Amino acid sequence: MKVRSRENDEIFISQNQDMEMDHVARFLRGKTVLITGATGFLAKVFVEKILRLQPNVKKLYLLLRASDDKSATQRLHDEITSTELFRVLRDNWSWRFDNLISSKVIAVAGDISFENLGIADSKLREKMWSEIEILVNVAGTTDFNERAKLNGWPNTYVFTKAMGEMLLGKFKGDLPLVIIRPTMITSTFKQPFPGWIEGVRTVDRIVVNYGKGKLSFFLGDFNSTLDVIPVDMVVNAMVVAMEVHYADRQCSRETIYHISSSSRNPMKVSDFRKFMRCYFTENPWVDTNGNVVKVGEATLFTAPGRFFLYMHLKYVLPLKVFCLINILCCQRFKKTYTNLDRKIKYILRLAEFYRPYTFFTGIFDDRNLEKLQRVAEDRGIDVTEFNFDSKSIDWEDYIMNIHIPGLFQHEK
Ligand SMILES: NC(=O)c1ccc[n+]([C@@H]2O[C@H](COP(=O)([O-])OP(=O)(O)OC[C@H]3O[C@@H](n4cnc5c(N)ncnc54)[C@H](OP(=O)(O)O)[C@@H]3O)[C@@H](O)[C@H]2O)c1
Repeated sequence: MKVRSRENDEIFISQNQDMEMDHVARFLRGKTVLITGATGFLAKVFVEKILRLQPNVKKLYLLLRASDDKSATQRLHDEITSTELFRVLRDNWSWRFDNLISSKVIAVAGDISFENLGIADSKLREKMWSEIEILVNVAGTTDFNERAKLNGWPNTYVFTKAMGEMLLGKFKGDLPLVIIRPTMITSTFKQPFPGWIEGVRTVDRIVVNYGKGKLSFFLGDFNSTLDVIPVDMVVNAMVVAMEVHYADRQCSRETIYHISSSSRNPMKVSDFRKFMRCYFTENPWVDTNGNVVKVGEATLFTAPGRFFLYMHLKYVLPLKVFCLINILCCQRFKKTYTNLDRKIKYILRLAEFYRPYTFFTGIFDDRNLEKLQRVAEDRGIDVTEFNFDSKSIDWEDYIMNIHIPGLFQHEK
């Protein structure tokens, strides 16, 4: 059998070597997978993992929003394969890296909100439909519009997620369906290297603003769990679930995996606050003027009412007075006023946005994930290569030595 290897261009491997190949790698060999959302954070890590694990995958179709396939290919290059995340794969493949990508990855222009995924070329579409064995949908928008509150949901994000899951359940036909529900996703724990993250998202907005001295108080319960999970653990669970459920594909079950840390290895809001303070005390942020930003112990408001009262008395009311002064002075302080107004609104939005999470006392039921781990062990899947056990995380070490440094290193 002929396969590529990292060291050699192409080699023949014997049946014995084939047997030694990781179980999941063997499963992926020759498979055709459609992946959506690959310009985003999570799917990018998924694509990298598949290519690193099994370059002999048959084909990865990446559905990307673009005007045509040429622009989609440009996005594949600019926003996916040329990112720092692909450094290890690029180093391993050296001058053959571009060849690996062009021979295995096909960028297709489309949009999941359109009929036929918005793929205009009917011939390509038919070809894809006949070849694709696994569809991994990671595309999504993280819009937290407030309208959903009217219907009793915390935000449109969870509301539309619930609707999406219901629709899939209804229309999946006899296909096996796996739903992955990660909690807040953070930087890579180990693979392809620790600390890779893209953009400042979820809880990291708090970390960055606190470190830069723009935020000195938070809203939350000391004893609540901050349920975060590193992105490579989410991807590892996705890949293993893919293998396990593909083998079981005659059974058109629907399985939900909560990929979280709250039940096995909870990190308290109070711990997180402590880690942030320690980190920024030891590694203070230096602003563009060369000033060292000193952080103090952040005040934690444990009741939302108190927080919003504090914000109104300390900031919103004085700003209203300042607004009047500005009008009386013929808009002389307009710039300062606009700036302060923007900052206060941002803090209030941030607080409102995270309120359902920083006061959340629930723990996600991850028994299905535990079961997946047992199945993986029984099948001899390499649990180091596919680690998704949050118990293996030392939060202090991860937050202080991996996550926050990675966040600042890869901040856009
Ligand atoms: N990040 C987290 O903490 C977290 C936690 C739990 C669940 N999730 C879920 O995981 C998924 C991926 O999250 P992420 O953090 O990777 O998000 P992300 O970085 O914002 O990426 C979202 C991706 O979806 C694509 N997309 C959006 N609408 C699309 C459409 N109509 N057609 C095709 N592609 C579309 C985006 O493409 P463009 O580049 O064209 O915009 C982008 O590639 C989402 O469903 C998210 O809700 C994320």
